[in-house]
Amino acid sequence: MTVQAAIALDVPATILAADPLDAAARVWPDVLIGRPDSLDDLLRLAERCALVTFDHELVDPAQLRELERRGFLLRPAAATMAVARDKLQQRARFGAAGLPVPAFRAAHTADEIGRFAGEHGWPVVVKARRGGYDGRGVMVVADAAGAAAAVERYRDSLPVLVEEHVPLERELAVLVARSPSGEMVAYPVFETVQRDGMCVEVVAPAPASEQLTREATDLGRRIALLVDAVGILAIEMFVDRAGRLLINEIAARPHNSGHLTIDAAATSQFENHLRAILDLPLGPAHLLVPAAVMVNVVATTDESTADGLAEALAVEGARVHLYGKQRRPGRKIGHVTVVGEDLDDVRRRARQAAARLSGEPATMRA
Ligand SMILES: Nc1ncnc2c1ncn2[C@@H]1O[C@H](COP(=O)(O)OP(=O)(O)OP(=O)(O)O)[C@@H](O)[C@H]1O
Ligand SMILES: [Mg+2]
Repeated sequence: MTVQAAIALDVPATILAADPLDAAARVWPDVLIGRPDSLDDLLRLAERCALVTFDHELVDPAQLRELERRGFLLRPAAATMAVARDKLQQRARFGAAGLPVPAFRAAHTADEIGRFAGEHGWPVVVKARRGGYDGRGVMVVADAAGAAAAVERYRDSLPVLVEEHVPLERELAVLVARSPSGEMVAYPVFETVQRDGMCVEVVAPAPASEQLTREATDLGRRIALLVDAVGILAIEMFVDRAGRLLINEIAARPHNSGHLTIDAAATSQFENHLRAILDLPLGPAHLLVPAAVMVNVVATTDESTADGLAEALAVEGARVHLYGKQRRPGRKIGHVTVVGEDLDDVRRRARQAAARLSGEPATMRA
């Protein structure tokens, strides 16, 4: 999707992909095959490029610092990526800056998790510091046995992050684009809906009060300054049942919560990411429609259903984005956005089209 934006702006790009069958590598001629955590491969990439940017956090901050030491330009910088990669560092940095974060602690042992729970109550949430996605590094832990299981599961990345289990009212995402010269635009606040820790749906604008929306946007802008973001910065936030706004985590790149900006906003997050890292004027970030809903297409089987696409496109207004990914049950392989006047109507149609693409048998679809 970043490449699609690069085409329109005639921005030449080289992609570092781990496998020639990776989605981006299959549609772009200028690809280097290599690993994002290999200094040699990163150097091969950086030597060909005026600057390097990121599509995920599976990089080693020490290697990124080494690139900078050798004079290569990273946007965002290695220091920003180091924070974005590490949930414990995020809690510590934002908490120390006086920003609202859930109660948290670093824990090396099940006993330490138990002591934290003694102070804050069970259940607690135990997270791998890094490498998690789609809820894969997150465990809700209800007792001492669960704490032991969590420490065992994350034993290669100790300490773990243990935090209070926040009673969620809803979850929000704030997307900010910021350029090196300091220009910044914030998208309207979106609501994200998670199932089993995985984002399944994004709603724009978020059904939240004007005051909460303003608070969330201000918080997003402060975080962008704090981590010296360049490009898109996505900030995931919790709203608890008392109306309290808390920072969950950040991503220093285009993010799933912003995919609907392709079809619903004046400038997509992907284009604004490119504009920002190239220090070009940023595009306006407002919504062009009263309501937009994005639903992720999550594969339910290994097989593709030949008629799924036609069925999805038969849903009025369904804008289909498939990623060319191999199907595996539980894997995100695309998304559908529907825009319109009425949120409920738009949501219903987006869900319907996404279900048709996910491979669910027709009898199971709502
Ligand atoms: N402390 C918490 N209290 C309540 N729910 C939580 C807490 N932490 C995480 N969750 C739930 O789990 C989801 C995933 O958590 P988190 O964002 O940390 O994981 P992730 O796997 O990194 O997600 P992503 O797919 O966004 O990278 C959250 O969106 C939220 O729904
Ligand atoms: Mg998350």
